[in-house]
Amino acid sequence: MRKIYVFDTTLRDGEQSPGVNLNTREKLEIAYQLEKLGIDRMEAGFPAASPGDLAAVNAVAKAVKNVTVIGLSRSREQDIDAVREALIGAQDPCIHIFLATSPIHRKHKLRMEKQQVLETAQSALRYAKKYFSKIEFSLEDAGRTELDFMVEMVSMAVNEGVKVVNVPDTVGYLNPAEYGAIFKHLKDNVPDIEKVQLSAHCHNDLGMATANTLAAIQNGADQIEGTINGIGERAGNTAIEEIAMALETRYEFFGAKTSLNLSEISRTSRLVSKLTGMVVPGNKAIVGANAFAHESGIHQDGMLKEKTTYEIMTPETIGLKESKLVLGKHSGRHAFREKLLDMGYELDEQQLNQAFARFKVLADKKKEVSDDDIMALVEEKLVDT
Ligand code: KIV
Ligand code: ZN
Repeated sequence: MRKIYVFDTTLRDGEQSPGVNLNTREKLEIAYQLEKLGIDRMEAGFPAASPGDLAAVNAVAKAVKNVTVIGLSRSREQDIDAVREALIGAQDPCIHIFLATSPIHRKHKLRMEKQQVLETAQSALRYAKKYFSKIEFSLEDAGRTELDFMVEMVSMAVNEGVKVVNVPDTVGYLNPAEYGAIFKHLKDNVPDIEKVQLSAHCHNDLGMATANTLAAIQNGADQIEGTINGIGERAGNTAIEEIAMALETRYEFFGAKTSLNLSEISRTSRLVSKLTGMVVPGNKAIVGANAFAHESGIHQDGMLKEKTTYEIMTPETIGLKESKLVLGKHSGRHAFREKLLDMGYELDEQQLNQAFARFKVLADKKKEVSDDDIMALVEEKLVDT
């Protein structure tokens, strides 16, 4: 099986969601759950950002045992030193160094020419190599970087002995064909590229983070980076649960899988939502409250006959008990009768017809008809308001 490594950055890029601030205890709680989920690599924070983040990264580094713990660093010695301090006690430490490479970032943010960018990154990698055997290097805004300069930067990183080269679409600008083509280009043009793992890191500004990440996998990416529930800067990062389930559900197409414990997905999503305060929209793929809920009569009838009619994956796979049939104005007699049976009501045909007619009147007035409503309907206690 071709394994895709999962680099989780919920505690770093995810925490960069506006309004989110996780304290050490909260980071630890999420870190333990991510370990249960079976991620391979965990970016615990950006130690140079604040003393609090350094301390939190250190607490995570000491706590988790079966995951590579990573600290983010700009291409600066002080940042690298902060990551060294933060990762003391880590079983398998890794530093993640980045530098922007696109013309826009070079001109307006870094005010550097290409050669300076190359040399700055190279000297940061050389400094980091003294202390770390595992280094990931990211070309920030790779998505808007010239291909030939990307080849130069990646070749330099490969020569410096980094383990992973990350190719971020930092501003979520690319489409799947373009993003996939970058991976192919690097594979075809960087000497000794097989010495490193290539990593995909996408943002969701145009809603294409998952599609772009999957395109990278199809073009040879070894690792994917993302967050739980897709939280992150602006419109967020690639949602890890979407990639894991896309690979699982369409294995015959992608021929690759993560090694996540999929049945921990739902629990992890709820924990991250609770501790970050980022509510998961009902229609969010995989982990939204409606992802396994069916409201229309036609769909409910199909589900009651055979679940694969309207479900391409089972709720049990991600750790949920069962699908939901929600009663509303689109629901039909089949689901209504099943609901009554579940609630212990066995009505004859005439009673069922009458109750169903009352249900339809009520359903026109309410978004969702609850069990209490149904009980009242059946027992003819409903007061028409
Ligand atoms: O989106 C990005 O470019 C990043 C880098 C720090 C890897 O998050
Ligand atoms: Zn990012």
